[in-house]
Amino acid sequence: MTISGLLILVIFLFYSLILADPNLGAGTIIFTTVGRSLYGFDIFAAPVDFCYSGEGELRLTDGVSVNYNGFFPSCPSSVLSLLHPNPSAFGDDPFDVLVYVTERSGYSTIYADVLSSISDTSNRRKVVGNPTRLQFPLLPPPSTTAGGRTSVSMKDRPSLFGDRVIFVSTHEPSHLPRQSWAAVYSTHIPTGATTRLTPPGVADFSPAVSPSGRWTAVASFGRRGWSGEVQELNTDIVVFKTEDGSARNLMVEHGGWPCWADEATIYFHRRSSDGWWSVYRATLTDQGADPLSLVSINRITPPGFHAFTPATATTAPELIAVATRRPTSQFRHIEVMHLNKGGGNAYVEVTRLIAPHAHHFNPFFSPDGRRIGYNRCRGGRSGGDPPLLLENIESLSPETFSVFRIDGSFPSFSPDGRWIAYAGLPGIYVVNSNGSNPREVYSGNAFPTAWDWKRKGVMYTSQGPDFAAESTQVDIISLTLNEDDDKAEPHIKKLTSGGTNNAFPSPSPDGKWVVFRSGRSGYKNLYIMDAVEGESAGIYRLTDGPWIDTMCNWSPDGEWIAFASNRDDPERVSFSLYVVHPNATGLRKVVPCREGGRANHPWFSPDSKSLVFTSDYAGVSAEPISNPHHFQPAGEIFTVNIEGSDVRRLTHNAYEDGTPTWAPFYLKPANVAESGQDVARCRFDDCRWLSSPDQVVDASDVSSC
Ligand SMILES: *[C@@H]1O[C@H](CO)[C@@H](O)[C@H](O)[C@H]1NC(C)=O
Ligand SMILES: *[C@@H]1O[C@H](CO)[C@@H](O)[C@H](O)[C@H]1NC(C)=O
Repeated sequence: MTISGLLILVIFLFYSLILADPNLGAGTIIFTTVGRSLYGFDIFAAPVDFCYSGEGELRLTDGVSVNYNGFFPSCPSSVLSLLHPNPSAFGDDPFDVLVYVTERSGYSTIYADVLSSISDTSNRRKVVGNPTRLQFPLLPPPSTTAGGRTSVSMKDRPSLFGDRVIFVSTHEPSHLPRQSWAAVYSTHIPTGATTRLTPPGVADFSPAVSPSGRWTAVASFGRRGWSGEVQELNTDIVVFKTEDGSARNLMVEHGGWPCWADEATIYFHRRSSDGWWSVYRATLTDQGADPLSLVSINRITPPGFHAFTPATATTAPELIAVATRRPTSQFRHIEVMHLNKGGGNAYVEVTRLIAPHAHHFNPFFSPDGRRIGYNRCRGGRSGGDPPLLLENIESLSPETFSVFRIDGSFPSFSPDGRWIAYAGLPGIYVVNSNGSNPREVYSGNAFPTAWDWKRKGVMYTSQGPDFAAESTQVDIISLTLNEDDDKAEPHIKKLTSGGTNNAFPSPSPDGKWVVFRSGRSGYKNLYIMDAVEGESAGIYRLTDGPWIDTMCNWSPDGEWIAFASNRDDPERVSFSLYVVHPNATGLRKVVPCREGGRANHPWFSPDSKSLVFTSDYAGVSAEPISNPHHFQPAGEIFTVNIEGSDVRRLTHNAYEDGTPTWAPFYLKPANVAESGQDVARCRFDDCRWLSSPDQVVDASDVSSC
């Protein structure tokens, strides 16, 4: 072996030691992401015409996974020469470059696709039919980056300047509870060298680089942190030098999603005091001033409709693209605002004329200002990947455990590894763990799912509404599946009666008992009952107090019951995680509720030494307005040692992740398609809080041809 070969081996062993994680049990973690399987996002582009020409839209991304938040570099040929040793690789045809976020390969990263020119209609068939495409990942994959898998993270909002890609990433911990990990970075594309532009301890979102490249504007939390905002983040517009993050200067208080029209003009959105989201213009000191400072702020879009996520075209400074929600539509659409046209601003609808019943997000202009790009769910017409039942997610420790997102809530594995159960809210479903033969086994609303350890095919759940008060009619049932006949109706047995919100059953590993939470005393506390006969065979109260104990899980070694509780501060519904022995001794807090943060849904690792849980400790990772509806725009999956040490973040995204389970089987890290689903379903809601302030009607003038 050569010296360098030996060196590589030593480095490899060194990294293997770091990466193989003796503290986390082997197995598979499966969790839920609210809405994600419905998205099927791709990037599309449509012409910006004052009279809609009927030319329609082009799908620019390839239909693999989800693709969103695009950017067109102004000089495609210099981008191609940066990426390809032979820039003539694309032939003589004119081309465009699209930079975007993609979640293919189980992690979020940034790609550049080189495409036939989208503005050249003679080329259109090439893009639509069989797209000529060169595809380049712009960032090194997580497993090869120094520091290994710790660089698993969310990436967002890319833009390109020179040989650098500027973007948001969440790969460095914020170290403060509920402070977002989102920060702006700059990666040198030829070498992969990455610089952080956001100061330590600060969270920045939605970066935009000025036309000269000299300045970057962001929506910043400063050091204030996230205080649980689910609609508009209380961010400010901050500007700094793109080169190194220096000359950082607060430009506008209260604003998000900046974009530059020229070196001295920034457009941004904020929710106005009259309740409407509106686009504003900040005029800065003239070009060349260093640092820049604010001269004036003007509101651009009037009350009467919501307008947000503005985008500018540097070649057409009179055009601003926005997403709107008009009182006349439940859908989010892209419009182009023509400033000072005929005495006022004129609005041109782009997407409503093409796909009136779909949501369209986050517009951006082509370099010539003639096309507008945006994300929408691809649906059935344009092909692309169907939804996944199990989507493999990059694992922090792939040698020890695999991680999957499941298209359902409250998943759990049968102890023999044969089946996965999950809740459809409504409905309980069972599917073979290789994804085959999904079937509904219970049609009412029920949650969660938990399998008996000893009696094959027996599962526990609670029937009734979720998120309900103590007195709500919710009762625990067991379902016994017929192992030999998938079509047979399962046998249903009611284990509690009285319906005082009896929920979250979790059986003991000896098959004798079920722990659950009940509101029977007027408070939700934990109880234990007979697994076969239910409460009629006697009931034992495990916890007692005027607070909420809930979401219980019995450890595989039988020693502990983990649960979530607000007993520290019963006035608030922010849970900490606790463990207690089944004989009610040894109560201990494992994960505190940290500065208002929540820890929910604990589930034991197969070796009973760790818990996987969901929490909002990592704050939010993107402006909520730039995403579809989530009950809350935070929620990531974490693990913790049951002694309370070694908290690790497993997921990074701008969605809401929850209800994890941890199975003793190592499921091969590969996607499993949903049987019977061959097109992306697009049934998701826009942000539900984007309703209209009632007192105002839509008074603006939309041009129609
Ligand atoms: C999946 O598992 C079931 C049950 O074990 C088996 O019958 C089926 O052939 C498997 N399907 C695939 C595609 O592996
Ligand atoms: C309670 O259970 C724990 C764990 O099984 C055990 O170590 C302890 O001795 C028990 N205590 C009593 C009082 O039974």
